[in-house]
Amino acid sequence: MTAPAPLEPRAYRARRLVTCDAARATADDPLGALDDAGFVVDERGRFAFVGAAADLPRGVPCTELDGLVTPGLIDAHTHAAWVGSRHVEYALRMAGADYRAIADAGGGIVASHRAVAEATEAAIADVLTARLARMVRLGVTTCEVKSGYGLTPELELRQLSAIAQAAARDDAPTIVPTFLGLHALPPAARADRAGYVDRVVDVLLPEIAARGLARYVDAYVDANAFTPDEATRLARRAATLGLPARLHVGQFADVGGAELCAELSAHAADHLEHVGPRGVDALAAAGVAAGLLPVASFTLGQAPPPVEALRRAGVALVVASDANPGTAPTESLPLALALAVRLYGLTPAEALLGATRRAAACLGLGARKGAIAAGLDADFAHYHLPHEIALVQPWGTELATYVARKGRTLYSRAR
Ligand code: NIG
Ligand code: FE
Repeated sequence: MTAPAPLEPRAYRARRLVTCDAARATADDPLGALDDAGFVVDERGRFAFVGAAADLPRGVPCTELDGLVTPGLIDAHTHAAWVGSRHVEYALRMAGADYRAIADAGGGIVASHRAVAEATEAAIADVLTARLARMVRLGVTTCEVKSGYGLTPELELRQLSAIAQAAARDDAPTIVPTFLGLHALPPAARADRAGYVDRVVDVLLPEIAARGLARYVDAYVDANAFTPDEATRLARRAATLGLPARLHVGQFADVGGAELCAELSAHAADHLEHVGPRGVDALAAAGVAAGLLPVASFTLGQAPPPVEALRRAGVALVVASDANPGTAPTESLPLALALAVRLYGLTPAEALLGATRRAAACLGLGARKGAIAAGLDADFAHYHLPHEIALVQPWGTELATYVARKGRTLYSRAR
């Protein structure tokens, strides 16, 4: 990729600037918000000056943003590279069939695997590009995207190559690709579970690492999914190849997934509807972030994770969409934020930090993204709203009117 042309430095002024900068956070204002404030974006597309509007440097052209500005939102858990449709099983589920029974009957993840098998790499990249563009319109500037619907080596490589293709576009958000190596057994491997795990760990994973197609590795650790031992094999090998783990744990049952994340120094333990006090303590002691996915538990009619225990233990709370065609049929991180407040009891500030600074940290991007602070990438979103609480109150509404990544426009509309 060639380096983009330098930008003309530009100042931006906002009625309210939610910086999410740890250096500005106080007990009363964890988001470090500034009223009548602004920032300068330098020629490299990074925030330079950030502070009171009155202190903006003169002589730099200034854009007035009438309303609220936040850091670009960061969606730290998505399956956005899915194709096809799972409407049939949704109807079955609403008629009373259970998610796991549907999976056993060849629906669920395996249905999305069949759709990947029928799509070309270009077709998957097209669907993903369109989906990412819709996410950008909601204020998202960074998105983690997992594979995991390929299931076979050929199809996992197809999905990850499609993710790389979509990520290379100038108009895409920043993409963090994750190899979800143990998601479900493909039908052809049901008779040879051990052989399947061996091939994923010993053959496919090294190839993906060598081709630079993933930055993280993931496994679905649960009853009726993969065991902690199987996930350990994948994560340990991945660590030797430079890929840290972020794992699906405790969505349906507590099989020790949180403790496992702690043992593996995973960057995130996601779901956690089922986690006990020992798991919570282990996450806190190891400094592993909790990835909260309220759209999934809402869809499945589950009780929330033990948010108060996680909070008390000092576990970093991240909020993500889990965008997928089965358990979280949405593309909207703002919807996840709204549900995190309404269903999980997060404060609006906790929810927003979970989709900005804390999300950046759990994706290994803390030095580059997640706040409006000098030196970080100028990723930001503007809304005609009076306050950040008005961002997490509504659901199903597109609120962002201007979205920039590294100082360049990704999306803009009048109002
Ligand atoms: O995060 N739990 C496993 N994986 C996804 C669901 C995938 C699907 O149903 O397609 C999740 O909920
Ligand atoms: Fe997921």
